[in-house]
Amino acid sequence: MSDRKPVSVLFVCLGNICRSPSAEGVFRQAVHSAGLAAHIHIDSCGTGDWHVGKAPDARAQDKARQRGIDISGLRARQFDASDLQRFDFILVMDRQNLSDIRDIWRRNGGTEPELFLSYGNSSHDEVPDPYYGGDEGFEAVLDLIEEASDGLLEAIRERLA
Ligand code: 4NP
Repeated sequence: MSDRKPVSVLFVCLGNICRSPSAEGVFRQAVHSAGLAAHIHIDSCGTGDWHVGKAPDARAQDKARQRGIDISGLRARQFDASDLQRFDFILVMDRQNLSDIRDIWRRNGGTEPELFLSYGNSSHDEVPDPYYGGDEGFEAVLDLIEEASDGLLEAIRERLA
């Protein structure tokens, strides 16, 4: 396993300040705890450009910190078509993200985007956008992300084995 090129994972949402940086932080910690940090490369981005260069939303930072995860150092960037060639997994948060990235994928090829929650066991298939809602939305985002992260880690372990 040690000679292998790292498996690369890109989380995608709309703004890259709430859901996808939360997913990056949660999954990074799960990978670190599993001793696989050298084998899995993780990044996140947004389909939109409004928040490029910004730190995660303060509510996302606070809720992650309450679970022992520091995402304060992350900075938003926008998805680029070259990401389709650079990442092995492109995991989007909702159907709008899926549609937006699929349009780019149809023209460019590369890794096909998937709904991140397809790796989870819950009845949800989208991580709802918490931006215009209250604190409980950010808790729900983290619950969904934690569960899907476990499934994703198992899928990547199989690929690394
Ligand atoms: P995210 O949430 O896609 O999870 O980062 C949002 C952040 C910003 C906006 C929408 C959703 N916005 O409209 O600015």
